[in-house]
Amino acid sequence: MERTLSIIKPDGVKKNVIGQIISRFEKSGLRVAAMKKVWLSKKEAEGFYIVHKERPFYSSLTEFMSEGPVVVMVLEGENAISKNREIMGATNPANAAEGTIRKDFAESVERNTVHGSDSPESAAFEISYFFAATEIL
Ligand code: CMP
Repeated sequence: MERTLSIIKPDGVKKNVIGQIISRFEKSGLRVAAMKKVWLSKKEAEGFYIVHKERPFYSSLTEFMSEGPVVVMVLEGENAISKNREIMGATNPANAAEGTIRKDFAESVERNTVHGSDSPESAAFEISYFFAATEIL
């Protein structure tokens, strides 16, 4: 059993496809262990994406992530990290496989609808950024 952090980004929330996205996770055998809708401040988005702070897209990414509400979730299941990444598709929707969330909903490499932890270490940091242990069930 593994846990990963998933975020439905502001573009996905605006498109009103929260349910469609969660349904894809559930159909693949992942379970929602925690969930909330939050509107991140720029500072909170910067803290979440701190590993990218030297990247040229950091400022624009954190602007985007704080432009409207997001849905944050802990997904749980066997190989949850890699399974979630498979369901999301490649970071750049232009390279995303057919049937993936990013292929179907994302607009660009930045406005790419969903985020998922990329390793057990980042999952631990990202889950604790949003949820207390008592909120993960
Ligand atoms: P995510 O999986 O949340 O991880 C970091 C995010 O930075 C990524 O999805 C995109 O939203 C964004 N990103 C990654 N590469 C680029 C890029 N080349 N230009 C703009 N944004 C990017």
